[in-house]
Parts: sequence; structure tokens; C-alpha cells
Amino acid sequence: RKATVGVDVGGTNTAIGIVDALGNVLAKDNIDTPSHGDIAQYITDLSNAIKALIKSVQLVNSEIVVLGIGVGAPNGNYYNGTIEYAPNLSFRGIVHFVSLLKEKFPDMEYVALTNDANAAAIGEMIYGGAKDMKNFVMYTLGTGVGSGLVVNGDLVYGADGFAGECGHTTLIPGGRSCGCGAKGHLEAYCSAPGMRRTAFEIMVRDNATDSMLADKSFKELSSKMIYDAAVKGDKVALEVFEQTGKWLGQGLADTVHHLSPEAVFLFGGPTAAGDYIFKPTKESMEAHLLPIFKGKIKILPSQLNPGDAAIVGASALVWKEMEK
Ligand code: BGC
Ligand code: NA
Repeated sequence: RKATVGVDVGGTNTAIGIVDALGNVLAKDNIDTPSHGDIAQYITDLSNAIKALIKSVQLVNSEIVVLGIGVGAPNGNYYNGTIEYAPNLSFRGIVHFVSLLKEKFPDMEYVALTNDANAAAIGEMIYGGAKDMKNFVMYTLGTGVGSGLVVNGDLVYGADGFAGECGHTTLIPGGRSCGCGAKGHLEAYCSAPGMRRTAFEIMVRDNATDSMLADKSFKELSSKMIYDAAVKGDKVALEVFEQTGKWLGQGLADTVHHLSPEAVFLFGGPTAAGDYIFKPTKESMEAHLLPIFKGKIKILPSQLNPGDAAIVGASALVWKEMEK
């Protein structure tokens, strides 16, 4: 039985999975994504975790052959296997991720890397809700906001390999500082930390000491907590979703105008809030769309299992490589 390894490099956590050709996750593990910027140590830890995981599945089924490793990472570049100046990672400069990983796996034929949101788009295309779509967009909401653009059945990479950085489109000129250093980017509003910031702004504005979120520290406030509070009718939490949806819908409308996709998929922690986030997003997108697009573009939740989507998507990159 053939399988591949999928790795999702997140802002704080790196998820690793062994995935078969049907997208089933056979085993998974997690390690910390370092905050100290030591890439050599991280590659060693990651390789050891991958090797241990491969061993563990082969112990259960000795016929499993692992054909390659696929990695999804913020600011990942598919063309040269590097991670460049990622605003939400501690690594500085250009990290030659694929070369470093290959040194640890000299016999592995396929080691490939792409942007994390591109990986999610590939997963959606092969195993998820976009199986029959040739034109769709994936937006991922997490520590950052990423996107993967699929046009005429192919992921768009562009001249340097960085196409689809929709999280860094300007939503509010001169607005909040983004992790990348610029101001007013969509990511500063619609990422998980952006939503947290919105919650705090509303609480300060309204002096909302009675909000269920009022006793949370900035660090601990998660999108899950905001969701739980919204379900209980907390006004601050409800407004956070309304406002985030307005912003996100505005950004999605721009993307629709650029690409004319059939659907936009949303993926990531905040999407677990369902209609609380989908409804205002859809309304706002519709309000900003040209008449030629109105009522035609679906906004859908990713159909991949939330905990697995990112690793499944990264693993699918290997199958895509083998098709070539
Ligand atoms: C990065 C993207 C990434 C996204 C989600 C953004 O800040 O620029 O490359 O896809 O975060 O991690
Ligand atoms: Na992308």
C-alpha cells in the first residue's frame, strides 16, 4: 500500500500525517513550530518525528511504502522549495526547507513544498468539495490569512511562485499593522489574532465589562471562545463575527472580480462558527459584487476533516508531483 507524508507548518504548531492515496490519515503527530528561529534544530526534530511516524505505521502494516513528503508552509515557494520571510514564523530570511529535509531523507524520491493555503486548495481539489470544479478559491483563516487560487483546473503560481497572497490585500488604507509590516491588510482583520483584536476594540469602545470575553487575556482569547460566547448571545462576540464577515466578504468580492471562480472555500478555526461567520461574509460579498457575479458564487466550508485538511492537502502535493 502506497502512502505519503503530509506536513503542515503552522504559526505555533507543525502537524505531520501519513496519508494513503485515498486521503485517509493512517497516523499523525504534532511538534512545536519553534519561536526561536533555530531552523537546523527544527529540521532535525521534524525529521525524527516523521521517521518515527513512518516506523509506527509500518509496524502495523509492513506493506506500507512511503513515497514522498509534501509540505505546506506560510510563504512557501513551490518553485524552489524555500520559505521566504514568513511574517508569522520565527525564521528569518530565506530557508531552504526542501534541501534541508532531503539531507535527512536521501532515499525519498519526492520532497515538495508549497504555500500552506495552496496545499489546502490541492486537498480540496483532490479529496474535498472541489473535486468537480475547475475554478475555485480557497481562503484559510488562522494565524494568518492565506489563499490558494485554482484557475482552469490548475493552481496559480505566477512568475516567482507566490501568487495568491490574498491575505495581504489592502482592506483599510492606513489601518491596523499587519505582521508583514504594512498597514490595513485583510489578514490584520480576518485572521484569528485579527478577530481577537476586534473583540478587544469593541470591548474598549463599549466598556463592555459584562461581556463573556471581558475576563480573557489577549493571548488566551480564541475564535472558539468567541464562538461559544456568540452562541450564548454575547453582544461583543456577535459583533465580532458580523464585522469580520463584512471585512472578509469585501476581500472575497475582490478575488471574485479578479478570477470569476465557481466557489470560494473557507477553511480554518474561525469557520467552525458556521453561519455566524458565513452569513455576514456572504452578505458583504454580495453587496460588493458586480451585477454579473451577484447570486452566482458559492461560499462553502472546506469539505475536508478540519483536523486533517492541512496535512491531507500537503500529502496530496506528492501525488500531484508523481503525475508529472
Ligand atoms: C502568509 C501566507 C500564508 C498565510 C496563512 C500569510 O501571512 O503571507 O503565505 O499562506 O499567512 O498561513
Ligand atoms: Na497561496
